[in-house]
Amino acid sequence: MSGHGDPIPMSSRKCGPLKGEAHVPGDKSISHRSLILGALAVGETKVTGLLEGQDVLDTAKAMQAFGATVEKQGDSWHVWGVGVGGFAEPENVIDCGNSGTGVRLIMGAMATSPIVATFTGDASLNKRPMARVTDPLALFGAQAVGRSGGRLPMTIIGANSPVPVSYTTPVPSAQVKSAVLLAGLNAPGETVVIEREATRDHSERMLAGFGAVIATEDTNEGHVIRLQGQPELKPQTIIVPRDPSSAAFPVCAALIVEGSDVLVPNIGLNPTRAGLFFTLQDMGADLTFENMREEGGEPVADLRARFSPDLKGIEVPPERAASMIDEYPVLSVVAAFAEGKTHMPGVKELRVKESDRIDAMARGLRAAGLRVDEGEDWWTVHGLGHGNVAGGAVVESFLDHRIAMSFLVMGMATTNPMSVDDGQPIATSFPIFEPLMEGLGAEITRG
Ligand code: S3P
Repeated sequence: MSGHGDPIPMSSRKCGPLKGEAHVPGDKSISHRSLILGALAVGETKVTGLLEGQDVLDTAKAMQAFGATVEKQGDSWHVWGVGVGGFAEPENVIDCGNSGTGVRLIMGAMATSPIVATFTGDASLNKRPMARVTDPLALFGAQAVGRSGGRLPMTIIGANSPVPVSYTTPVPSAQVKSAVLLAGLNAPGETVVIEREATRDHSERMLAGFGAVIATEDTNEGHVIRLQGQPELKPQTIIVPRDPSSAAFPVCAALIVEGSDVLVPNIGLNPTRAGLFFTLQDMGADLTFENMREEGGEPVADLRARFSPDLKGIEVPPERAASMIDEYPVLSVVAAFAEGKTHMPGVKELRVKESDRIDAMARGLRAAGLRVDEGEDWWTVHGLGHGNVAGGAVVESFLDHRIAMSFLVMGMATTNPMSVDDGQPIATSFPIFEPLMEGLGAEITRG
């Protein structure tokens, strides 16, 4: 669980060049899915490179509560799965901490089994919308009873006789898509998900890897995914690639801190995740992909980011939003150091993340001397150019790891230090953020 201890105020100040290699942790999305699919396979799945962030540890605990055995042995994690349809009814409430991915995917995975489970989370997660998942789960025959507005805590009564569904996702969300696919696993026949905009496709790739029959196709209606229900999933050996969303922080820090040259090796560059890096290149960033290769069916590269004094504000293509949805907070920090406006349209989903990320970033950026304009689904940062960003603000992180890390990155290049009221949520996705950034030359202090 996160957000339950005392807040940890943190600050960062202008530092010398960031230099060296940044070995960021494993991918959060793939880590959750490794544990959940491992729990639904028959036999032992072995996972190396698992992100040991609080979000993923909460999912590991949840899988144990549903009857799987999950153990860490040396450097690897081992999951002994119970098979599709084999989940046991948890004896207690499932606490998913800060993790929307955890709770939504697990709800999907249990919704087509004849069991009942109650889910809760921290103050951030308990504010987030769950109807986007429980609406399609109801089509399978599951029932949900939660707080007003479809909020956690919430009980899901799994379907006794699930039926397969065909569902068009109303929001571009890989969590919704994945919840439907995981529910479809234990429904007889074919479950179909149609998304108008393609979102991260880790569930599809991994389900295929575990032996499910799944096919994707681009049609006039959108991106169509077809899954055959009730497969026997075969246990896998999984090497989790390093997280591009975590790589974003040392990369963006290197671009804005004078004299920096940072290598971030082994980063997964799945096209449904890599939008930030192309956007930074469009802004004039000195960012290169070295040693491009394929690993475990995913494109992987070493990212080299160097200080980029002449960044330009740009119009970020809205069709790229899904492939960089978690990176807008740190992009807005880079935009502050660019010349001119960076306009970010088509990003309504940012309002329902761990925090309302447009609001959270706009508040902090304004407090640091920036002009930020915003609407329901867009925002614009008016960049001041390198050397012109005052900083000197104490900002709220709203229990959101990416807000906390973004402002700490910002403080590495502002004239005056930047402080966040609570850096504790950083441990949900990037527990080694502080030592890793300090190892490159950053100056971060606590208290
Ligand atoms: C995730 C999907 C995205 C992303 C989240 C991880 C996933 O959320 O923001 O950090 O692993 O499926 P949405 O599906 O709500 O866009």
